[in-house]
Amino acid sequence: MTSLRRAFVSLALWLVAWGCAPARPAGDAAPPAPSAAADVAAQPLSSAGSGAAVARHAMVVSEQEYATRAGIEVLRKGGNAVDAAVAVGFALAVVYPEAGNLGGGGFMVIRLPDGRVTTFDYREKAPLAATADMFLDARGNVIENLSWEGHLASGVPGSVKGMLTALERYGRLDRASVMAPAIRLARDGFPVSQGLIEALEGERRVLCRFATTREVFFAGRPTRVVQDSLSGGLRTECFAADSARQAFGPAGQPPGELARAEPFRVPPGVDRRLGVWTAGDTLRQPDLARTLETIARDGAAAFYEGPIAELIVDEMRGGSGLITRQDLAAYDVVEREPVHTTYRGFDVYSMPPASSGGVILAEILNVLEPFDVKALGFHSARGVHVLAEAMRRAYADRNRFLGDPAFVEMPLATLLSKDYAGELAASIDTTAATPSAEVLAGALFGTPHESLQTTHYSIVDSAGYAVATTTTLNGGFGSGVVVEGAGFFLNNEMDDFTVKPGVPNAYGLVQGEANAIEPGKRMLSAMTPTLVTKDGALFLVVGTPGGSTIITTVAQVVSNVIDHGMPLERAVAAGRVHHQHLPDALQAEPFTLSEDTVRRLEALGHEVRLRRWTSGRVNAILRDPATGLYQGVADLRQYAGLAEGF
Ligand code: DON
Repeated sequence: MTSLRRAFVSLALWLVAWGCAPARPAGDAAPPAPSAAADVAAQPLSSAGSGAAVARHAMVVSEQEYATRAGIEVLRKGGNAVDAAVAVGFALAVVYPEAGNLGGGGFMVIRLPDGRVTTFDYREKAPLAATADMFLDARGNVIENLSWEGHLASGVPGSVKGMLTALERYGRLDRASVMAPAIRLARDGFPVSQGLIEALEGERRVLCRFATTREVFFAGRPTRVVQDSLSGGLRTECFAADSARQAFGPAGQPPGELARAEPFRVPPGVDRRLGVWTAGDTLRQPDLARTLETIARDGAAAFYEGPIAELIVDEMRGGSGLITRQDLAAYDVVEREPVHTTYRGFDVYSMPPASSGGVILAEILNVLEPFDVKALGFHSARGVHVLAEAMRRAYADRNRFLGDPAFVEMPLATLLSKDYAGELAASIDTTAATPSAEVLAGALFGTPHESLQTTHYSIVDSAGYAVATTTTLNGGFGSGVVVEGAGFFLNNEMDDFTVKPGVPNAYGLVQGEANAIEPGKRMLSAMTPTLVTKDGALFLVVGTPGGSTIITTVAQVVSNVIDHGMPLERAVAAGRVHHQHLPDALQAEPFTLSEDTVRRLEALGHEVRLRRWTSGRVNAILRDPATGLYQGVADLRQYAGLAEGF
């Protein structure tokens, strides 16, 4: 731990030297007086994306600078970490529409000042009219994209009730105070980041199918109607940014080849931007602002039973979706006991089912514990081999046993026991990979969809609260559908269910009957918001997006810090590996394993696959046990993440 502390202090000095010091000097003992709330939308663009910060009293780390500042604003108003988490969650729904949401779900793990840990499960549920085979054709084959795009892909959203229930039970401030920054960001707008521009362009094909979505994010972009190759029906397509400029831009009169060849429509009042964003342009979302104001005034009832429910149901009717008034009225949030395990003297608390995150994180760590992971060496072939074998075994259990606790019996006591982990550890051959087919029968693989989004934020305050929240719409911008008149995206979480046993989902996960679709059931998640304590004191707050790689990413950050003594910024920056049982392949981020290590792993029997993209975007906070200082780290794998404290 001494080396950890040394690294921490040197990082703090380095940050101070480079002008990234906390708002107050770290040695200052008195809690800062609440100051006038900063206008989050007015912050300069140049401050975007600060990777790390050190602070004494409180810290917020999220994927989006304006959301982090919303959390800081609420903390400075006298709110605790739960108030700040709710402020960040609502702000993300405005400034990070890829994953921040009102129309999705999530999980929140909270540590209270007395050391107790509790969790909120606000995962989406299958609509009451959902059926096990709703995404299959008459021959029983999966209909491509049906569980991923459009109205049928959505589960009943949980975020609004989840966040407001946590606020009521553990927050200090009222709804209006914690929602004020989000309302302001929606109404007055915020500068669009390059990350959002690229994400929108990347999902253009799906997003432009829906008129309401086009109106919010592509207003002014020329469109054309084309035949959809999958469904055979007609769909609206937006011109790509470049071809729109070429065909319709100021110099491009009359429109070129492209426009003459296709039926096209330029919306009335088309502006010179042609619906093409430049970083720094202001995005205002008046419908979303109104929705947020209604929730701030009337609470979750407005969303689940009132005017917003009405808009969701109308949207569903228009798009042949399943969510009804009864679905929304019946939606419930569950406060659950956390999953708990120990790892080399640290206590680890994480999310129980309906997320698989906590159980599988615990299982991986428990399997690793008998090995001297430090002595095996960081990213050595033997070290990566043992890690992958632990992951493989844990994911086999995930995919077979786990599901919504209201629907399936799960052998949780066994899965979490050190004895069982010891048996799994003993089954690892340190000289050869165990084929997944021998760990559990079955082998099918999928190509993951591109551009997947979820988001995690970590918050601590001076009163002793700590919050880890992971939230998602599932894919980037969820189903692609913005609810008409309400201004927010609906999720495409139905794809997290077993759409058909043995057929991989978007993350290549091959799942079983425990996670089959049933009316009112929560689809199994991998989200792993996690808290680690040592001798009763907070040590680490951590979590990440990344679909099926979420759990293995969290496990590696925990192991990097505890086993390898890495300072947090190294533990987060380090390349990541992943194994999920099926496909039977050891996946590695680019720039993670040397050629030499890959060859050695292959010699041990692993098929090593280089991932095309990075996996995960961790936002974490470490409390230095020696000084009590908080170090926040926003993963540099994201565009505009910000760690800020005071
Ligand atoms: O709940 C889950 O496990 C997935 N819906 C998470 C999706 C995700 O992380 C996409 N991310 N980047």
